[in-house]
Amino acid sequence: MNQAEQFDDLLTCRLGQTQRSLEPCSVVIFGASGDLTARKLIPALYHLHQEGQMPSDYRIVGFARREKTDDSWRDELRQALDEFSRTKPVDAVVWQDFAGHLSYTRGDITEPEAFQALERQLSSYGKEPLRRNLLFYLATPPSQFGQAVEQLHTCGLLHKGGEQGWQRIVIEKPFGRDLESARQLNRELTRFASEQQVFRIDHYLGKETVQNILMFRFSNSIFERLWARGSISHVQITVAEHQGVEQRGGYYEEAGALRDMVQNHLLQILSLVAMEPPVSLDAEAIRDEKVKLLRSLRPLSQEDVARQVVRGQYFAGVVDGELRPGYRQEPKVKPDSNVETYVGLKLFVDNWRWSGVPFYLRTGKCLPVSASEVRVQFCPTPHVLFAADCGQQLDANALALRLQPEEGIYLRFNGKVPGIGVEVRPVRMHFSYDSEFGAYTPEAYERLLLEAMAGDATLFIRRDEVEAAWGIVDSIRGAWGQRPLSNREFYSAATWGPVAADDLLAQAGHAWHEPLLTNHVKKGR
Ligand code: BG6
Repeated sequence: MNQAEQFDDLLTCRLGQTQRSLEPCSVVIFGASGDLTARKLIPALYHLHQEGQMPSDYRIVGFARREKTDDSWRDELRQALDEFSRTKPVDAVVWQDFAGHLSYTRGDITEPEAFQALERQLSSYGKEPLRRNLLFYLATPPSQFGQAVEQLHTCGLLHKGGEQGWQRIVIEKPFGRDLESARQLNRELTRFASEQQVFRIDHYLGKETVQNILMFRFSNSIFERLWARGSISHVQITVAEHQGVEQRGGYYEEAGALRDMVQNHLLQILSLVAMEPPVSLDAEAIRDEKVKLLRSLRPLSQEDVARQVVRGQYFAGVVDGELRPGYRQEPKVKPDSNVETYVGLKLFVDNWRWSGVPFYLRTGKCLPVSASEVRVQFCPTPHVLFAADCGQQLDANALALRLQPEEGIYLRFNGKVPGIGVEVRPVRMHFSYDSEFGAYTPEAYERLLLEAMAGDATLFIRRDEVEAAWGIVDSIRGAWGQRPLSNREFYSAATWGPVAADDLLAQAGHAWHEPLLTNHVKKGR
């Protein structure tokens, strides 16, 4: 078997695993009264339960400061599920059964007694694995991560190395504000847990279409052979959002698009698109390649940032007949804020495969549509044959991986227009998840929770990945410094960012391609 065949074999094996067998465990959610728990975690766990994917025995314990009983927490979650479940209506019988697994412990992360109460609660579970196999989901502000881990260790619930059952910590971004704070956070987490016990979530990695990037690249020889500088002119990664910042102004003022989206989702997508084949599908092998890729990104000097990075902020505009406020008018945003709601950048991967190929990344709020897409633009053919009849501008082939919505892949190539003349026109070949596999749309959190319970870290971000990504982001932030936004850096709501974002590509004779969407999904999330 040659290497490509072995890889195909491995992929097929992985693809064949539709159901994981999980050991009994308890899931403890810190921040159990919060938004993430109600919107994402409980609906995801409910669906896993409904589909018979949870372990044969399990408990879910909510931990938060507010005074609640098991019943009042269950009632709240039931209401939240009505709103946020991906299947409606909620099945009353399934809910009853699921609710029997839920209990609540009141407590503050600063109080040792609260952790002792949690420990008592877990010890009351008869079966050993429910007391020893513990998934701690820290749905709390990052400033509390270190303390929560320390308390868990002190009260004997968290053992580094996991000789007694397994214990895992799941955390959400932001993983720090910059490289230094990310390192500090990593140090705090790994004082009482090993790196293998820390599961850092980037919910984009839980999306089917993002997972498919590797499958697509390494199981299709026709594309795999073209995946390099000789054939590819450039790559565009777009993660566009039609919504503005809305109620999240307070958080966004501290983050901005660069920290909120580029540091994590966009660089993760880039690393999957551009990484070398891993030696196996093992979590460490995949993450080794991702981190290698992030480390191959050409460092950005201050001058490079001026040339290669564009930021922007939306101002008020009329969208669908209604006036949309500008970012500075959003709740909890300073009226003179210089926070970026758009970032477009050109990066180079300085390795053998990608030398000289630009990777253009863009993300923004209040853009014309909500859509995420990777577009691989192939090199044009020589124009000699058709130039006389079709002009110099023969369309170059392109492959678009649509991550959301209308998930699918399409290939754009040239075809002859029927008739006597020589007229060439771009046409599309299209694969859609919906028509091929039916409307199977599990939420990213379902997959991620399942993987965390199974102890498979492939879809989670390793410490060195986080740190490598901050390296890039910090150099951009450093170059921006305190400089206020200039007039050229504003864009009207529902447009494709500041004009400079187009110039960024035009310098090299390239142009952004808008994700093509059917009308009815254009604006949705
Ligand atoms: C989050 C960001 O990580 O991703 C949000 O904090 C953003 O600002 C969201 O809206 C986008 O996720 P999705 O899954 O809706 O594309």
